[in-house]
Amino acid sequence: MASLRALLGLGFGLRLCGVLAQDALGFKLEEALAEHLKIIYAMDEIIQDAPPRVSAQERQLQADTTPPSLNVLTVQAYIFHILVTVQMDETGIIYCGAVLHSGSYTPSAYELKTGTNLKGHGSVNAAANTRSNVVVNGLSASTSYDLFCYAEDASFNGISNAAILATKKPSVITASGGDYVAPVLKYVAPYFTAESQALYINVEMSEDGTVWSVALKDSGSGTTVPTSSAIMNNVGVDSWGTHPIAAQQLYKATIRLGGLQEDTVYDIYSFARDMSGNGIDNTPAYPSNVTKIAETKFAGLRTLAVWIPSKVSVAYAIGSTEYALEPATWNTHLPKCLPGVGSSHFRCGPDLESWSTPPVLTNSQLVSLASHASAGCSGHLQATPPASGTYVLLLRRGKCAFAKKALQAERAGYSGLLLVDHQTNLDRGVLPDMTAESQDATISIPAWIIGKTNGEALVLAAASSGISLRVTLTDQYRKPRLGNLQSDLYGLRVYATQ
Ligand SMILES: *[C@@H]1O[C@H](CO)[C@@H](O)[C@H](O)[C@H]1NC(C)=O
Repeated sequence: MASLRALLGLGFGLRLCGVLAQDALGFKLEEALAEHLKIIYAMDEIIQDAPPRVSAQERQLQADTTPPSLNVLTVQAYIFHILVTVQMDETGIIYCGAVLHSGSYTPSAYELKTGTNLKGHGSVNAAANTRSNVVVNGLSASTSYDLFCYAEDASFNGISNAAILATKKPSVITASGGDYVAPVLKYVAPYFTAESQALYINVEMSEDGTVWSVALKDSGSGTTVPTSSAIMNNVGVDSWGTHPIAAQQLYKATIRLGGLQEDTVYDIYSFARDMSGNGIDNTPAYPSNVTKIAETKFAGLRTLAVWIPSKVSVAYAIGSTEYALEPATWNTHLPKCLPGVGSSHFRCGPDLESWSTPPVLTNSQLVSLASHASAGCSGHLQATPPASGTYVLLLRRGKCAFAKKALQAERAGYSGLLLVDHQTNLDRGVLPDMTAESQDATISIPAWIIGKTNGEALVLAAASSGISLRVTLTDQYRKPRLGNLQSDLYGLRVYATQ
Protein backbone atom coordinates (compact mmCIF):
# COMPACT_ATOMS: atom_id res chain seq x y z
CA MET A 1 0.00 0.00 0.00
CA ALA A 2 3.03 2.25 0.32
CA SER A 3 2.84 3.32 -3.27
CA LEU A 4 -0.91 3.92 -3.01
CA ARG A 5 -0.39 6.12 0.03
CA ALA A 6 2.30 7.99 -1.87
CA LEU A 7 -0.16 8.47 -4.71
CA LEU A 8 -2.86 9.69 -2.39
CA GLY A 9 -0.29 11.91 -0.74
CA LEU A 10 0.46 13.42 -4.11
CA GLY A 11 -3.28 13.93 -4.71
CA PHE A 12 -3.55 15.54 -1.33
CA GLY A 13 -0.59 17.75 -2.07
CA LEU A 14 -2.14 18.93 -5.30
CA ARG A 15 -5.42 19.54 -3.55
CA LEU A 16 -3.54 21.40 -0.82
CA CYS A 17 -2.20 23.77 -3.43
CA GLY A 18 -5.79 24.39 -4.48
CA VAL A 19 -6.72 24.89 -0.81
CA LEU A 20 -3.86 27.31 -0.33
CA ALA A 21 -5.05 29.21 -3.36
CA GLN A 22 -8.52 29.22 -1.97
CA ASP A 23 -7.14 30.39 1.40
CA ALA A 24 -6.67 33.75 -0.14
CA LEU A 25 -10.44 33.72 -0.65
CA GLY A 26 -10.98 33.28 3.13
CA PHE A 27 -11.00 29.51 3.89
CA LYS A 28 -9.23 28.34 6.98
CA LEU A 29 -6.23 26.17 6.22
CA GLU A 30 -6.49 23.98 9.37
CA GLU A 31 -10.15 23.11 8.70
CA ALA A 32 -9.43 22.19 5.10
CA LEU A 33 -6.47 20.04 6.11
CA ALA A 34 -8.50 18.07 8.67
CA GLU A 35 -11.31 17.57 6.13
CA HIS A 36 -8.91 16.20 3.52
CA LEU A 37 -7.15 13.84 5.88
CA LYS A 38 -10.53 12.31 6.71
CA ILE A 39 -11.31 11.75 3.03
CA ILE A 40 -7.88 10.30 2.28
CA TYR A 41 -8.08 7.73 5.04
CA ALA A 42 -11.59 6.75 4.01
CA MET A 43 -10.44 6.31 0.41
CA ASP A 44 -7.42 4.35 1.52
CA GLU A 45 -9.77 1.94 3.33
CA ILE A 46 -11.97 1.40 0.27
CA ILE A 47 -9.11 1.04 -2.20
CA GLN A 48 -7.34 -1.58 -0.08
CA ASP A 49 -10.26 -4.02 -0.43
CA ALA A 50 -11.50 -3.07 -3.89
CA PRO A 51 -10.82 -5.19 -6.97
CA PRO A 52 -8.86 -3.55 -9.81
CA ARG A 53 -11.13 -1.03 -11.50
CA VAL A 54 -9.40 -1.30 -14.93
CA SER A 55 -9.50 -4.48 -17.03
CA ALA A 56 -6.37 -5.80 -18.73
CA GLN A 57 -7.91 -4.99 -22.10
CA GLU A 58 -8.64 -1.42 -21.12
CA ARG A 59 -5.10 -0.98 -19.86
CA GLN A 60 -3.91 -2.30 -23.27
CA LEU A 61 -6.14 0.16 -25.08
CA GLN A 62 -4.95 2.93 -22.90
CA ALA A 63 -1.37 1.82 -23.44
CA ASP A 64 -1.51 2.00 -27.30
CA THR A 65 -2.10 5.54 -28.39
CA THR A 66 0.49 5.42 -31.19
CA PRO A 67 -0.81 5.42 -34.75
CA PRO A 68 0.70 2.84 -37.09
CA SER A 69 3.35 3.68 -39.62
CA LEU A 70 2.11 2.97 -43.16
CA ASN A 71 4.19 2.40 -46.29
CA VAL A 72 2.82 2.30 -49.82
CA LEU A 73 5.34 0.04 -51.55
CA THR A 74 4.19 -0.35 -55.14
CA VAL A 75 1.32 0.74 -57.34
CA GLN A 76 0.29 -1.18 -60.47
CA ALA A 77 -2.35 0.35 -62.74
CA TYR A 78 -4.69 -1.89 -64.75
CA ILE A 79 -7.69 -0.96 -66.86
CA PHE A 80 -10.38 -0.70 -64.22
CA HIS A 81 -8.38 -1.02 -61.04
CA ILE A 82 -5.12 -0.19 -59.34
CA LEU A 83 -3.29 -2.77 -57.28
CA VAL A 84 -1.55 -1.18 -54.27
CA THR A 85 1.00 -3.12 -52.23
CA VAL A 86 1.13 -1.79 -48.68
CA GLN A 87 2.75 -2.64 -45.36
CA MET A 88 2.46 -1.26 -41.82
CA ASP A 89 4.16 -1.95 -38.50
CA GLU A 90 1.01 -2.98 -36.64
CA THR A 91 -1.94 -5.23 -37.35
CA GLY A 92 -5.00 -3.34 -38.55
CA ILE A 93 -6.91 -2.22 -41.63
CA ILE A 94 -5.51 -0.32 -44.57
CA TYR A 95 -7.80 1.67 -46.88
CA CYS A 96 -6.74 3.08 -50.24
CA GLY A 97 -8.70 5.28 -52.61
CA ALA A 98 -8.31 7.22 -55.80
CA VAL A 99 -9.50 10.70 -56.75
CA LEU A 100 -9.19 12.27 -60.18
CA HIS A 101 -5.73 13.71 -60.55
CA SER A 102 -5.87 17.36 -59.55
CA GLY A 103 -2.67 17.76 -57.64
CA SER A 104 -4.29 19.47 -54.65
CA TYR A 105 -7.14 17.44 -53.16
CA THR A 106 -6.30 15.13 -50.23
CA PRO A 107 -9.17 12.94 -48.97
CA SER A 108 -9.82 12.66 -45.22
CA ALA A 109 -9.60 9.53 -43.11
CA TYR A 110 -13.41 9.36 -43.17
CA GLU A 111 -13.52 9.58 -46.97
CA LEU A 112 -10.89 6.87 -47.39
CA LYS A 113 -12.70 4.56 -44.93
CA THR A 114 -16.12 4.99 -46.53
CA GLY A 115 -15.31 5.68 -50.17
CA THR A 116 -17.07 9.05 -49.97
CA ASN A 117 -16.00 11.43 -52.77
CA LEU A 118 -13.64 8.81 -54.20
CA LYS A 119 -13.60 7.41 -57.76
CA GLY A 120 -12.53 4.02 -56.46
CA HIS A 121 -11.50 2.47 -53.19
CA GLY A 122 -10.62 -0.76 -51.42
CA SER A 123 -9.28 -2.07 -48.13
CA VAL A 124 -7.39 -4.99 -46.64
CA ASN A 125 -6.98 -6.53 -43.18
CA ALA A 126 -3.22 -6.33 -42.80
CA ALA A 127 -0.95 -8.22 -40.43
CA ALA A 128 1.96 -6.33 -38.86
CA ASN A 129 5.08 -6.01 -41.01
CA THR A 130 3.55 -8.05 -43.83
CA ARG A 131 2.96 -7.03 -47.41
CA SER A 132 -0.71 -6.86 -48.38
CA ASN A 133 -2.54 -5.87 -51.55
CA VAL A 134 -5.36 -3.39 -51.75
CA VAL A 135 -7.45 -3.46 -54.93
CA VAL A 136 -8.72 0.03 -55.70
CA ASN A 137 -11.61 -0.97 -57.93
CA GLY A 138 -14.28 0.83 -59.94
CA LEU A 139 -12.00 3.08 -61.99
CA SER A 140 -12.19 4.11 -65.64
CA ALA A 141 -9.73 3.22 -68.41
CA SER A 142 -7.03 5.70 -69.50
CA THR A 143 -7.60 8.06 -66.58
CA SER A 144 -5.13 9.80 -64.30
CA TYR A 145 -5.74 9.37 -60.57
CA ASP A 146 -4.13 10.53 -57.34
CA LEU A 147 -3.92 7.63 -54.94
CA PHE A 148 -3.99 7.87 -51.12
CA CYS A 149 -4.04 5.36 -48.29
CA TYR A 150 -5.12 5.49 -44.67
CA ALA A 151 -4.48 2.95 -41.89
CA GLU A 152 -5.80 2.18 -38.44
CA ASP A 153 -4.31 -0.24 -35.94
CA ALA A 154 -6.37 -2.66 -33.83
CA SER A 155 -6.75 0.05 -31.14
CA PHE A 156 -8.33 2.38 -33.73
CA ASN A 157 -5.34 4.69 -33.79
CA GLY A 158 -5.45 6.18 -37.28
CA ILE A 159 -2.68 7.91 -39.15
CA SER A 160 -2.75 11.70 -39.30
CA ASN A 161 -3.84 13.88 -42.24
CA ALA A 162 -0.17 14.65 -42.82
CA ALA A 163 0.58 10.92 -42.94
CA ILE A 164 -2.30 10.42 -45.42
CA LEU A 165 -0.80 13.12 -47.61
CA ALA A 166 2.57 11.37 -47.37
CA THR A 167 1.05 8.21 -48.95
CA LYS A 168 0.02 10.15 -52.06
CA LYS A 169 0.95 8.60 -55.41
CA PRO A 170 0.12 11.32 -57.92
CA SER A 171 -1.08 10.75 -61.48
CA VAL A 172 -1.43 6.99 -61.64
CA ILE A 173 -2.84 6.34 -65.12
CA THR A 174 -5.04 3.32 -65.77
CA ALA A 175 -4.40 1.24 -68.88
CA SER A 176 -6.38 1.81 -72.04
CA GLY A 177 -7.24 -1.80 -72.92
CA GLY A 178 -9.88 -2.11 -75.62
CA ASP A 179 -11.10 -5.71 -75.39
CA TYR A 180 -12.05 -6.27 -71.78
CA VAL A 181 -14.04 -9.45 -72.32
CA ALA A 182 -12.63 -12.55 -70.67
CA PRO A 183 -12.63 -15.68 -72.82
CA VAL A 184 -14.55 -18.77 -71.74
CA LEU A 185 -12.78 -22.12 -71.55
CA LYS A 186 -14.43 -25.49 -71.31
CA TYR A 187 -13.62 -29.17 -71.64
CA VAL A 188 -15.33 -30.89 -74.55
CA ALA A 189 -16.07 -34.46 -75.57
CA PRO A 190 -14.34 -36.85 -75.53
CA TYR A 191 -12.97 -34.80 -72.61
CA PHE A 192 -9.84 -36.86 -72.04
CA THR A 193 -7.86 -39.91 -73.07
CA ALA A 194 -5.68 -41.75 -70.60
CA GLU A 195 -2.45 -43.57 -71.26
CA SER A 196 -0.20 -45.12 -68.67
CA GLN A 197 2.06 -42.04 -68.52
CA ALA A 198 0.04 -39.32 -70.18
CA LEU A 199 -3.39 -37.70 -70.21
CA TYR A 200 -4.83 -35.91 -73.24
CA ILE A 201 -7.27 -33.13 -72.40
CA ASN A 202 -9.73 -31.74 -74.96
CA VAL A 203 -10.54 -28.06 -74.58
CA GLU A 204 -12.57 -25.44 -76.41
CA MET A 205 -12.38 -21.67 -76.04
CA SER A 206 -14.84 -18.93 -76.97
CA GLU A 207 -12.25 -17.11 -79.10
CA ASP A 208 -8.67 -17.29 -80.39
CA GLY A 209 -5.90 -17.41 -77.84
CA THR A 210 -3.77 -19.80 -75.85
CA VAL A 211 -4.66 -22.43 -73.28
CA TRP A 212 -2.44 -23.98 -70.66
CA SER A 213 -3.24 -27.11 -68.65
CA VAL A 214 -1.48 -28.73 -65.73
CA ALA A 215 -1.85 -32.00 -63.85
CA LEU A 216 -1.50 -32.19 -60.07
CA LYS A 217 -1.17 -35.58 -58.43
CA ASP A 218 -3.90 -36.32 -55.92
CA SER A 219 -2.43 -38.63 -53.29
CA GLY A 220 -5.75 -38.75 -51.45
CA SER A 221 -5.91 -35.35 -49.78
CA GLY A 222 -6.99 -33.38 -52.85
CA THR A 223 -5.09 -30.67 -54.70
CA THR A 224 -4.74 -26.93 -54.22
CA VAL A 225 -5.92 -24.63 -57.01
CA PRO A 226 -2.76 -23.30 -58.67
CA THR A 227 -2.36 -19.65 -59.62
CA SER A 228 -2.62 -18.53 -63.23
CA SER A 229 1.11 -17.85 -63.15
CA ALA A 230 1.89 -21.38 -61.90
CA ILE A 231 -0.29 -22.80 -64.68
CA MET A 232 1.25 -20.68 -67.42
CA ASN A 233 4.84 -21.02 -66.22
CA ASN A 234 4.90 -24.71 -65.25
CA VAL A 235 5.68 -23.98 -61.59
CA GLY A 236 4.99 -26.53 -58.86
CA VAL A 237 2.93 -28.85 -61.07
CA ASP A 238 3.38 -32.51 -62.01
CA SER A 239 2.83 -32.03 -65.73
CA TRP A 240 2.29 -29.09 -68.04
CA GLY A 241 1.08 -28.52 -71.56
CA THR A 242 -0.08 -25.64 -73.75
CA HIS A 243 -1.75 -25.21 -77.12
CA PRO A 244 -2.79 -22.27 -79.28
CA ILE A 245 -6.49 -21.91 -80.01
CA ALA A 246 -7.52 -20.88 -83.50
CA ALA A 247 -10.78 -20.45 -85.39
CA GLN A 248 -9.48 -22.84 -88.08
CA GLN A 249 -9.44 -25.63 -85.51
CA LEU A 250 -12.96 -24.66 -84.39
CA TYR A 251 -11.41 -23.19 -81.21
CA LYS A 252 -10.60 -26.70 -80.03
CA ALA A 253 -7.31 -28.26 -78.99
CA THR A 254 -5.95 -31.36 -77.34
CA ILE A 255 -3.34 -30.81 -74.68
CA ARG A 256 -0.94 -33.61 -73.83
CA LEU A 257 0.14 -33.91 -70.20
CA GLY A 258 3.03 -36.35 -70.23
CA GLY A 259 5.56 -37.74 -67.78
CA LEU A 260 2.86 -38.98 -65.39
CA GLN A 261 2.95 -41.99 -63.10
CA GLU A 262 1.02 -45.11 -63.99
CA ASP A 263 -2.26 -45.95 -62.27
CA THR A 264 -2.26 -42.59 -60.48
CA VAL A 265 -5.01 -40.02 -59.92
CA TYR A 266 -4.50 -36.48 -61.17
CA ASP A 267 -6.54 -33.29 -61.06
CA ILE A 268 -6.33 -31.06 -64.12
CA TYR A 269 -6.46 -27.24 -63.97
CA SER A 270 -6.37 -24.91 -66.95
CA PHE A 271 -5.93 -21.26 -67.75
CA ALA A 272 -6.52 -19.42 -71.01
CA ARG A 273 -5.96 -16.01 -72.50
CA ASP A 274 -7.42 -14.45 -75.61
CA MET A 275 -5.38 -12.61 -78.25
CA SER A 276 -5.82 -9.33 -76.33
CA GLY A 277 -4.35 -10.91 -73.22
CA ASN A 278 -7.60 -11.23 -71.26
CA GLY A 279 -7.46 -14.21 -68.95
CA ILE A 280 -10.41 -16.41 -68.05
CA ASP A 281 -10.10 -14.94 -64.53
CA ASN A 282 -10.94 -11.42 -65.90
CA THR A 283 -7.37 -10.15 -65.64
CA PRO A 284 -5.84 -7.78 -66.48
CA ALA A 285 -8.83 -5.47 -66.99
CA TYR A 286 -10.43 -6.45 -63.67
CA PRO A 287 -9.08 -7.91 -60.43
CA SER A 288 -8.41 -11.63 -60.73
CA ASN A 289 -11.40 -13.85 -59.97
CA VAL A 290 -9.63 -17.01 -58.84
CA THR A 291 -12.95 -18.88 -58.72
CA LYS A 292 -12.71 -19.01 -62.52
CA ILE A 293 -9.48 -21.01 -62.23
CA ALA A 294 -10.92 -23.23 -59.49
CA GLU A 295 -13.83 -23.95 -61.84
CA THR A 296 -11.45 -25.47 -64.42
CA LYS A 297 -10.70 -28.32 -62.03
CA PHE A 298 -11.16 -31.62 -63.86
CA ALA A 299 -10.87 -33.99 -60.97
CA GLY A 300 -9.82 -37.57 -60.54
CA LEU A 301 -8.35 -38.60 -63.90
CA ARG A 302 -6.50 -41.86 -63.51
CA THR A 303 -3.65 -42.93 -65.75
CA LEU A 304 -3.70 -46.52 -66.99
CA ALA A 305 -1.99 -49.18 -64.95
CA VAL A 306 1.19 -50.61 -66.39
CA TRP A 307 0.45 -53.66 -68.40
CA ILE A 308 2.72 -55.66 -70.57
CA PRO A 309 0.80 -56.25 -73.80
CA SER A 310 2.82 -59.28 -74.89
CA LYS A 311 4.90 -61.42 -72.60
CA VAL A 312 6.60 -64.72 -72.07
CA SER A 313 6.26 -66.37 -68.72
CA VAL A 314 9.12 -68.78 -68.02
CA ALA A 315 8.64 -71.58 -65.48
CA TYR A 316 11.96 -72.12 -63.74
CA ALA A 317 12.64 -74.89 -61.21
CA ILE A 318 11.73 -72.43 -58.48
CA GLY A 319 9.12 -69.85 -59.42
CA SER A 320 8.59 -68.17 -62.75
CA THR A 321 9.67 -64.96 -64.45
CA GLU A 322 7.93 -62.76 -67.00
CA TYR A 323 9.60 -60.85 -69.80
CA ALA A 324 8.04 -58.33 -72.16
CA LEU A 325 7.82 -59.26 -75.83
CA GLU A 326 6.88 -57.54 -79.05
CA PRO A 327 4.56 -59.53 -81.36
CA ALA A 328 5.10 -59.98 -85.10
CA THR A 329 2.56 -58.20 -87.29
CA TRP A 330 1.40 -61.56 -88.70
CA ASN A 331 0.18 -62.58 -85.25
CA THR A 332 -2.85 -60.38 -85.91
CA HIS A 333 -3.70 -62.60 -88.91
CA LEU A 334 -3.80 -65.72 -86.74
CA PRO A 335 -6.86 -66.94 -84.93
CA LYS A 336 -6.53 -67.89 -81.31
CA CYS A 337 -4.21 -70.88 -80.98
CA LEU A 338 -5.91 -73.98 -79.64
CA PRO A 339 -4.39 -77.38 -78.92
CA GLY A 340 -4.96 -79.46 -82.04
CA VAL A 341 -7.25 -82.41 -81.43
CA GLY A 342 -5.72 -85.68 -82.60
CA SER A 343 -2.68 -83.84 -83.85
CA SER A 344 0.77 -84.27 -82.39
CA HIS A 345 1.35 -80.55 -82.65
CA PHE A 346 -0.38 -77.47 -81.58
CA ARG A 347 -1.43 -75.09 -84.36
CA CYS A 348 -3.24 -71.85 -84.69
CA GLY A 349 -6.02 -73.39 -86.69
CA PRO A 350 -8.69 -71.69 -88.76
CA ASP A 351 -11.09 -71.16 -85.91
CA LEU A 352 -13.29 -68.20 -86.82
CA GLU A 353 -14.90 -68.15 -83.39
CA SER A 354 -11.59 -67.21 -81.84
CA TRP A 355 -10.74 -64.12 -83.84
CA SER A 356 -11.62 -61.89 -80.96
CA THR A 357 -8.83 -63.45 -78.89
CA PRO A 358 -5.18 -63.03 -79.81
CA PRO A 359 -2.67 -65.91 -80.01
CA VAL A 360 -1.55 -67.61 -76.81
CA LEU A 361 0.86 -70.52 -76.58
CA THR A 362 0.31 -72.11 -73.20
CA ASN A 363 2.85 -74.22 -71.36
CA SER A 364 5.04 -74.98 -74.37
CA GLN A 365 8.52 -76.43 -74.38
CA LEU A 366 11.26 -74.02 -75.37
CA VAL A 367 13.86 -75.38 -77.80
CA SER A 368 16.89 -73.14 -78.14
CA LEU A 369 18.78 -73.20 -81.44
CA ALA A 370 20.35 -69.88 -80.56
CA SER A 371 23.79 -71.13 -81.59
CA HIS A 372 22.54 -72.30 -85.02
CA ALA A 373 25.15 -71.45 -87.66
CA SER A 374 22.74 -69.61 -89.97
CA ALA A 375 20.50 -68.34 -87.12
CA GLY A 376 17.77 -70.56 -88.53
CA CYS A 377 17.86 -68.98 -91.97
CA SER A 378 19.03 -72.00 -93.90
CA GLY A 379 20.45 -75.51 -93.50
CA HIS A 380 19.28 -78.24 -91.17
CA LEU A 381 16.93 -77.10 -88.42
CA GLN A 382 16.44 -79.64 -85.67
CA ALA A 383 12.84 -80.85 -85.90
CA THR A 384 10.57 -81.00 -82.88
CA PRO A 385 10.37 -84.33 -81.04
CA PRO A 386 7.58 -86.54 -82.36
CA ALA A 387 5.89 -86.56 -78.96
CA SER A 388 2.69 -84.64 -78.36
CA GLY A 389 2.88 -81.16 -76.94
CA THR A 390 3.79 -77.78 -78.30
CA TYR A 391 7.27 -76.46 -78.98
CA VAL A 392 8.51 -72.91 -79.31
CA LEU A 393 11.77 -72.30 -81.15
CA LEU A 394 14.28 -69.82 -79.73
CA LEU A 395 16.57 -68.20 -82.32
CA ARG A 396 18.69 -65.08 -82.58
CA ARG A 397 17.72 -62.19 -84.85
CA GLY A 398 19.86 -61.61 -87.93
CA LYS A 399 21.16 -62.97 -91.22
CA CYS A 400 17.74 -63.17 -92.94
CA ALA A 401 14.19 -61.89 -92.87
CA PHE A 402 11.93 -62.56 -89.92
CA ALA A 403 9.47 -64.20 -92.33
CA LYS A 404 12.13 -66.67 -93.49
CA LYS A 405 12.84 -67.80 -89.91
CA ALA A 406 9.15 -68.18 -89.15
CA LEU A 407 8.55 -70.33 -92.26
CA GLN A 408 11.63 -72.46 -91.42
CA ALA A 409 10.38 -72.99 -87.84
CA GLU A 410 6.88 -73.82 -89.05
CA ARG A 411 8.27 -76.38 -91.50
CA ALA A 412 10.33 -78.05 -88.70
CA GLY A 413 7.17 -78.47 -86.65
CA TYR A 414 7.32 -75.63 -84.15
CA SER A 415 4.15 -73.95 -82.96
CA GLY A 416 5.77 -70.61 -82.31
CA LEU A 417 8.99 -68.64 -82.76
CA LEU A 418 10.80 -66.45 -80.26
CA LEU A 419 13.69 -64.27 -81.51
CA VAL A 420 16.39 -62.64 -79.38
CA ASP A 421 17.15 -59.09 -80.48
CA HIS A 422 20.81 -58.27 -81.17
CA GLN A 423 21.04 -54.75 -79.79
CA THR A 424 20.86 -53.42 -76.28
CA ASN A 425 20.44 -49.81 -77.42
CA LEU A 426 17.06 -50.20 -78.98
CA ASP A 427 15.98 -48.17 -81.95
CA ARG A 428 13.88 -45.35 -80.37
CA GLY A 429 13.80 -47.33 -77.15
CA VAL A 430 11.45 -50.01 -78.42
CA LEU A 431 11.80 -53.49 -79.87
CA PRO A 432 11.11 -53.75 -83.62
CA ASP A 433 7.68 -54.73 -84.87
CA MET A 434 8.61 -57.79 -86.93
CA THR A 435 6.74 -57.84 -90.20
CA ALA A 436 6.54 -60.01 -93.32
CA GLU A 437 4.75 -57.08 -95.02
CA SER A 438 2.51 -58.51 -97.78
CA GLN A 439 3.41 -62.09 -96.75
CA ASP A 440 1.92 -61.66 -93.26
CA ALA A 441 -1.12 -63.74 -94.17
CA THR A 442 1.01 -66.67 -95.37
CA ILE A 443 2.71 -67.41 -92.03
CA SER A 444 0.70 -69.65 -89.75
CA ILE A 445 2.71 -69.71 -86.53
CA PRO A 446 2.92 -66.73 -84.22
CA ALA A 447 6.26 -65.06 -83.49
CA TRP A 448 7.63 -62.67 -80.91
CA ILE A 449 10.90 -60.83 -80.32
CA ILE A 450 12.50 -60.38 -76.90
CA GLY A 451 15.08 -57.77 -75.82
CA LYS A 452 18.76 -58.78 -75.90
CA THR A 453 19.33 -58.80 -72.11
CA ASN A 454 16.27 -60.87 -71.24
CA GLY A 455 16.72 -63.00 -74.36
CA GLU A 456 20.29 -63.96 -73.47
CA ALA A 457 19.10 -64.93 -69.97
CA LEU A 458 16.55 -67.19 -71.63
CA VAL A 459 19.21 -68.66 -73.97
CA LEU A 460 21.36 -69.50 -70.91
CA ALA A 461 18.42 -71.00 -69.01
CA ALA A 462 17.42 -73.11 -72.03
CA ALA A 463 21.01 -74.34 -72.48
CA SER A 464 21.18 -75.56 -68.90
CA SER A 465 17.74 -77.15 -68.75
CA GLY A 466 17.51 -78.69 -72.23
CA ILE A 467 13.98 -78.97 -73.55
CA SER A 468 12.45 -79.06 -70.10
CA LEU A 469 12.09 -75.28 -69.96
CA ARG A 470 8.43 -74.44 -70.20
CA VAL A 471 7.09 -71.12 -71.42
CA THR A 472 3.74 -69.44 -71.98
CA LEU A 473 3.64 -66.75 -74.66
CA THR A 474 0.72 -64.35 -74.65
CA ASP A 475 -0.59 -61.47 -76.72
CA GLN A 476 -3.10 -59.49 -74.68
CA TYR A 477 -4.66 -57.92 -77.76
CA ARG A 478 -4.36 -57.74 -81.49
CA LYS A 479 -1.94 -54.90 -81.98
CA PRO A 480 -3.27 -52.67 -84.76
CA ARG A 481 -1.06 -52.02 -87.77
CA LEU A 482 -0.08 -48.33 -88.10
CA GLY A 483 2.36 -46.44 -90.27
CA ASN A 484 6.04 -46.69 -89.37
CA LEU A 485 6.93 -44.47 -86.37
CA GLN A 486 3.29 -43.76 -85.61
CA SER A 487 2.03 -44.47 -82.12
CA ASP A 488 -1.17 -45.10 -80.23
CA LEU A 489 -2.15 -46.34 -76.78
CA TYR A 490 0.07 -49.38 -77.38
CA GLY A 491 3.14 -47.27 -78.06
CA LEU A 492 5.41 -46.46 -80.97
CA ARG A 493 5.65 -48.70 -84.04
CA VAL A 494 9.09 -49.34 -85.48
CA TYR A 495 8.52 -51.81 -88.31
CA ALA A 496 11.39 -54.00 -89.48
CA THR A 497 11.56 -56.99 -91.83
CA GLN A 498 14.77 -58.55 -90.53
C1 LIG B 1 -16.10 -14.97 -59.79
O1 LIG B 1 -16.52 -16.07 -60.58
C2 LIG B 1 -17.57 -16.81 -60.01
C3 LIG B 1 -17.78 -18.03 -60.85
O2 LIG B 1 -17.91 -17.77 -62.21
C4 LIG B 1 -18.81 -15.94 -59.92
O3 LIG B 1 -19.87 -16.67 -59.36
C5 LIG B 1 -18.48 -14.74 -59.06
O4 LIG B 1 -19.56 -13.88 -59.04
C6 LIG B 1 -17.25 -14.02 -59.59
N1 LIG B 1 -16.87 -13.00 -58.65
C7 LIG B 1 -16.68 -11.75 -59.01
C8 LIG B 1 -16.22 -10.84 -57.93
O5 LIG B 1 -16.85 -11.37 -60.16
